Amino acid sequence: MQGIQTFSMIKPDAVSANQIGAILAMIEKAGFAIDAISMLQLTQTAAEHFYAVHADRPFYKDLCSFIASGPVVAMVLKKDHAVADLRKLMGATNPAEATEGTIRKAFATSIDYNAIHGSDSDETAASEIFFFFPGYSLLIKRKPIL
Ligand code: GTP
Ligand code: MG
Repeated sequence: MQGIQTFSMIKPDAVSANQIGAILAMIEKAGFAIDAISMLQLTQTAAEHFYAVHADRPFYKDLCSFIASGPVVAMVLKKDHAVADLRKLMGATNPAEATEGTIRKAFATSIDYNAIHGSDSDETAASEIFFFFPGYSLLIKRKPIL
C-alpha cells in the first residue's frame, strides 16, 4: 500500500526568488494538504546528512552548499499516492527535461537550482519527515479538536 504522506522542501533558489506562494499554490491546487510547514536554514552538516545518499557523487559538495545557502520551506504533504504524485508535479530533476505544468518547468533554472525537493519513496519520506519534524507522528492520527 502506498502512503498518504510525503516530505517536500522549497529550495533556497525558489525562496530567494519569492516563489514560495506560487509553489504552494500549485501544490494545493494539485490536491495536497499541507500538514506541517516550517521555514529554516540548514547547517552544512545537516545538508550533508540530508543528501548523504549522494555522498560519492561529484556534485555532492556543491549540492550541500547550495541547500545550506539560504532558508528553505520544509513541509509534510498529504494526499493519496503522495510520493509518486508529488514527483510528477515536481517534474524532472533537470528542468530542461521537465514537462509543461510542473513546478520545475516553471521555477527551476538548472539541474543544480531546481526549486523543490520531494521524497523518492515512502521509506525516505518517513526518515525525512522525522529529520525535519521530529514531533510529527506517522503512526498516530490527529484527532479533531471538536
Ligand atoms: P531532490 O528532490 O533534490 O532529491 O532531486 P531528485 O530526487 O530529482 O534528484 P536526485 O535525488 O537524484 O539528486 C539530488 C539533487 O542532486 C538534484 O536535485 C540535483 O540538484 C542534483 N543532481 C542530481 N543529479 C545530478 C547531476 O547529474 N549533475 C548535477 N550537477 N547535479 C545533479
Ligand atoms: Mg532525490
